[in-house]
Amino acid sequence: MTYSKIIGTGSYLPAKRVTNDDLAAQLAAKGIETSDEWIVTRSGISARHYAAPDENASDLAVNAARKALEASGLEAEQIDLIIVATSTPDYFGSFPSTACIVQNKLGMRNNSAAFDMGAVCSGFVYAMATADAFIKAGNAKNVLVIGTEVFSRILDFDDRSTCVLFGDGAGAVVLAASEEPGVLAVKLHADGSHGGILCGPANPSNQASNQKFLYMDGPAVFKLAVSVLEKVANEALAHAQMPAGDIDWLIPHQANLRIMTGTAKKLGLPADKMVVTVHEHGNTSAASIPLALDVAMRDGRIKPGHNVMMEGVGGGFTWGAVLARM
Ligand code: ACO
Repeated sequence: MTYSKIIGTGSYLPAKRVTNDDLAAQLAAKGIETSDEWIVTRSGISARHYAAPDENASDLAVNAARKALEASGLEAEQIDLIIVATSTPDYFGSFPSTACIVQNKLGMRNNSAAFDMGAVCSGFVYAMATADAFIKAGNAKNVLVIGTEVFSRILDFDDRSTCVLFGDGAGAVVLAASEEPGVLAVKLHADGSHGGILCGPANPSNQASNQKFLYMDGPAVFKLAVSVLEKVANEALAHAQMPAGDIDWLIPHQANLRIMTGTAKKLGLPADKMVVTVHEHGNTSAASIPLALDVAMRDGRIKPGHNVMMEGVGGGFTWGAVLARM
């Protein structure tokens, strides 16, 4: 049986680090009040990174991809599919796709397939599920899966309830065909009836909306996120016929520490089995899971043979889980 297996990870954070105190000072200059204490208590976030003016989602992605390729031992030319999960592509409508731009910036001339995946904060999980299906169907051997975002570009810095929560970054994995177990289960869901509680700026092609920035009904998102994350993790476990206790590492979408801790608790997992980067990265949407995965791979917490549950939830409304053996 052919499996798909993660054979390399990489990540990239832009150089500019912005602390809660930095943001509070920036907002105070406009008469908007916030504080490190409010942000940490409500979200667990202490800092986030912002891309430089000349850095786009594709630049962050390329930096993460190079590291993932290096870790995998593969050359870029050996990749036959690139999937980039992003809601902040370089061009409107992913036209051209960020994945095509990444392919070119990596110097690839092998005509690998390349496309963007739009599922907001679930984008990485959706992209992994797609890559896994391509590999299992025999349609790809080595897939570069990237989550990359420059959410700082779509935030309303007059809206304290959203601008403090998000950051920029990228994470990447190389998923390759393998005879050894890798991805064990994949579960994806969406419910478009909740699309209005979390959305980005309207495109120029949408004349019915004058939405200029990211909009989020925080409490509504919170409520939905907590309920779906537990359910989808259990669905993936059931598919793999694995008890929750066999999960070595839980990597939920890094949006809010309270949601993440609540999910671990509902699954009966101790908090120290969860990889947490939200305090340093903020919510980097599609990049948050591969960023956290790479951090825990490189600091040696995640080891070969470990079972890792990755879970995303975000705009759409979308959610999903990928259970993988490393
Ligand atoms: N500083 C100080 N006060 C603030 C701030 C701020 N930055 N932001 C909001 N407040 C105030 C509000 O105005 C409100 O004041 P009021 O009671 O006088 O009206 C009060 O704080 C409480 O606001 P709530 O929104 O009720 O706060 P809550 O405890 O719900 O926390 C939060 C807000 C952090 C946004 C939370 O709801 C949340 O994390 N939601 C989920 C976010 C998430 O998971 N997103 C994932 C998907 S993201 C994606 O897909 C792109």
